[in-house]
Amino acid sequence: MLEKIEAYLKEIESFSTSSKEELEQFRIKFIGSKGLLKDLFDDFKAVPKEQKKEAGQKLNALKNSATEKFQNLLNNLSNQTESKTENFDYSRPGTPINLGSQHPVSIVIKEMCDIFSRIGFTVKEGPEIEDDWHNFTALNFPEEHPARDMQDTFFINSESQHALRTHTSSVQIRVMENEKPPLRIIAPGRVFRNEAISARSHCIFHQVEGFYIDKDVSFADLKQTLQYFAKEFFGKAKIRLRPSYFPFTEPSAEMDVYWGLETETDYKITKGTGWLEVLGCGMIDPNVLENCGIDSKIYSGYAFGIGVERIAMQRFNIPDIRMIFENDIRFLNQFKSVI
Ligand code: DAH
Repeated sequence: MLEKIEAYLKEIESFSTSSKEELEQFRIKFIGSKGLLKDLFDDFKAVPKEQKKEAGQKLNALKNSATEKFQNLLNNLSNQTESKTENFDYSRPGTPINLGSQHPVSIVIKEMCDIFSRIGFTVKEGPEIEDDWHNFTALNFPEEHPARDMQDTFFINSESQHALRTHTSSVQIRVMENEKPPLRIIAPGRVFRNEAISARSHCIFHQVEGFYIDKDVSFADLKQTLQYFAKEFFGKAKIRLRPSYFPFTEPSAEMDVYWGLETETDYKITKGTGWLEVLGCGMIDPNVLENCGIDSKIYSGYAFGIGVERIAMQRFNIPDIRMIFENDIRFLNQFKSVI
């Protein structure tokens, strides 16, 4: 037995490898649960008493030598794999991060806010659930006005005290009640109307409200501001103002931008007229100013409200308004390059 141990010790000493497989063979041969050491320990039981001491020591030495050898070779191998990571090429391009995209409505709203910010307007927001005062009464809507009808407004409670706002003009009232003129505000937001959903209209949409209140604000100021907006946003300088009616402005107008009639699409989006309807506007009715505690003998103001969806549809060639609210990833992905 002692000779056997000596021979194995020599074998272990001279063993070396850089291959994982060979090292595993070594482990199985010596240390494994069915390995040589196991056999030798079994044989050890039969060793005569007087040889036991020496044989036991040798056997332990063999066991230690085998485990030590195995551990050392294993460490060498794992150091080698670590040094492989040290050679990693840091100039390699990284894994691309999927960046997502901005919603077409957000793109248009952001651009509008940027354009008005450049001429001193400040962005303000108001609540989407409004009371009758801010959405209608303070804005000079007569008690019997059809816009208050259940047809158009989503009321929250049966007493009709609260509703989803039907326009962002309510933000005018909220700001005027809390701040003193001069006021130059742009207020983007979501609005709600109880309308049948079709390719052209939806019960949810967005508006960008703007208004300016100061001493001596005139219709000429309104026109200049709108002219600037048309030039910046559409790249078109020709606008026209058609007389219109809104309860909260007097006089009231609607602005069209001259789009041209060069292509078939021009015909389509301007309904063959060459003019694109863009917004409603007017001089803030003195009643509205007074409702908010602003002296209409000292101050005057103009206001305008732009519908966002129609402009987004025209800009990005979106054929159906419902696509804007469905959040189909195939639709949204198309706006990646616009940011
Ligand atoms: N609030 C109007 C609407 O929802 C849009 C509007 C028109 C806003 C004229 C204004 C304005 O501020 O002056 O149809």
